[in-house]
Amino acid sequence: MSPIAGLLQCDSVEPNLEPNLAAGAAQAVLADAATDDPEGDEPEDLPLELLFDEEVPTGRSYGPLESLQQLGKFVFFDELSVPNDKQGCVSCHDPAAGWTLKDAKVNQLQVAAPGAALGAVGSIKPPSNAYARNMPLQLECPPFLLPCGGVFWDGRAEGSDAPRVAGATAHVGVEVFKGKASLQDLFAQFLGPVADQALQPFPNPVEQNISEQQVCQHVAAAPYYSLYTLAWGEKIDCSAAGFMLSFKRIAVALAAWQASGEVNSFSSKRDLALAADIGAEGAGVAFPLNGLTAKENLGHELFYGKAGCALCHSNTPVFVIEDPNKAGLDPGELYTDAAYHNIGVPRNPAIPGPLGSPGIGARSGLPNQLGMHKTPTLRNVDKRPTTSFVKAYTHNGWFKSLESLVHFYNTSDVSSNGATAAKFGITRCDPKKDWTEAAARAANCWPAPEETGTLAIGFLIGDLDLTVAEEAAIVAYLKTLTDTKTVKPPQLLQ
Ligand code: HEC
Ligand code: HEC
Repeated sequence: MSPIAGLLQCDSVEPNLEPNLAAGAAQAVLADAATDDPEGDEPEDLPLELLFDEEVPTGRSYGPLESLQQLGKFVFFDELSVPNDKQGCVSCHDPAAGWTLKDAKVNQLQVAAPGAALGAVGSIKPPSNAYARNMPLQLECPPFLLPCGGVFWDGRAEGSDAPRVAGATAHVGVEVFKGKASLQDLFAQFLGPVADQALQPFPNPVEQNISEQQVCQHVAAAPYYSLYTLAWGEKIDCSAAGFMLSFKRIAVALAAWQASGEVNSFSSKRDLALAADIGAEGAGVAFPLNGLTAKENLGHELFYGKAGCALCHSNTPVFVIEDPNKAGLDPGELYTDAAYHNIGVPRNPAIPGPLGSPGIGARSGLPNQLGMHKTPTLRNVDKRPTTSFVKAYTHNGWFKSLESLVHFYNTSDVSSNGATAAKFGITRCDPKKDWTEAAARAANCWPAPEETGTLAIGFLIGDLDLTVAEEAAIVAYLKTLTDTKTVKPPQLLQ
């Protein structure tokens, strides 16, 4: 058995191979890449030909693309931090918790994740890292949606060579293909916001707190190190001159895995019901779907219709939807427009660090963009390890339940124009007090928005005229977006 087959449990391998990238083609590319290398310095201690020729038990060879994605997966789950190797990407992006923080107590209270360093705490809620792969680059956004694209709540991992808004993070560019030009065709698809993002958590003191060179050295000594060689066709170089390139290549691996079918499984109840009806009815498919309950189907109708959620939570936002049952049929729906809005989230007094998150307005310097945060995907928004597990919603996690958030969308306009709030008897909470979501619900009031720049309340949201039953139907629909598949950590066989 080849070392790599011995290393991995192959049933956990679910590559996202493009149809034209059969294993054979991938091998050919790697062979090319090897000849590309001016020094021809193939690693000595790894019998590459043997590894590539050996079929893994699933019947596929281990080509560079699959190796790259598997490398990313191992690094994602590796608790690789200073001190004590106790924090990995998975600590804040747990698949079982919908790729967010796996600590229900933190979600309930301080929201922001503790970092690896003693006493270090972040200042914002970890969003899902899944389904982020298709975020457009800042430069690709249509002009009327400015600003949009990128990842992070304020989009600062822009993913492009020419940053558009001030304060963009460092960028992973084609320099990673130095001496490996033929890998570019295969791997360039993974450059972009998610690869740029992956440079950030390791050296960040409120996250993994480990230097780029230490990450390189850790991977070089890890049991899965040969995946790097298989992916990049050369040994990892952690010398003073080489570690930064290696580190960036690890970021590309993280992006490649986060773009895989494993992370983006499209396996929710809604996906399965839609696929079944497409199978039975073909192009004429429409909601209600046979596989959803009447309540869930009603939730869909409201989401794309009366409640107007799809204005922002759809990758094909439509302003006037004539028949909501004929909308939302894209199997690849990501439930985000990748743009920035201020929905008027109240200040969260429980969050440590700088209390306010002025969103993209803090980067652009434009007052009318204060409080605008990127619309998060709604996929897996209700995914949790147990029913009593508390999740936190919106950038500062002030909301703890989908029920309250939907009620907020329905009634947050407490001005004299807000007929729905009036119907429910909702008022403005006393501004002199700090409010948790539970206290505000008990007092039947909403605290003032933290930022008032370009507020969507009173315009698109806040007065939706939904009944209690309709709110519940929308929540039921959101719960159909939970993937039925849950990624497990990769296993070493020995
Ligand atoms: C200590 C907790 C923590 C760790 C560890 C962590 N993250 Fe995050 N992650 C966050 C937070 C918080 C944000 C949002 C930060 C912001 O927007 O300013 C985030 C944002 C992201 C996003 C952007 C999602 C989007 O759509 O905007 C991705 C992707 C991501 N993380 C992937 C990773 C990867 C890969 C790793 C490991 C290299 C990692 N994270 C490690 C907390 C963490
Ligand atoms: C004007 C655009 C817009 C509309 C309309 C809208 N949303 Fe949102 N939604 C957002 C933005 C932006 C955020 C993040 C806000 C923040 O964190 O400050 C968000 C956050 C959320 C979240 C929290 C997700 C998480 O991971 O924390 C849920 C759930 C949600 N919206 C559901 C809905 C539903 C249901 C509707 C319809 C009733 C709706 N949204 C209408 C833009 C919108």
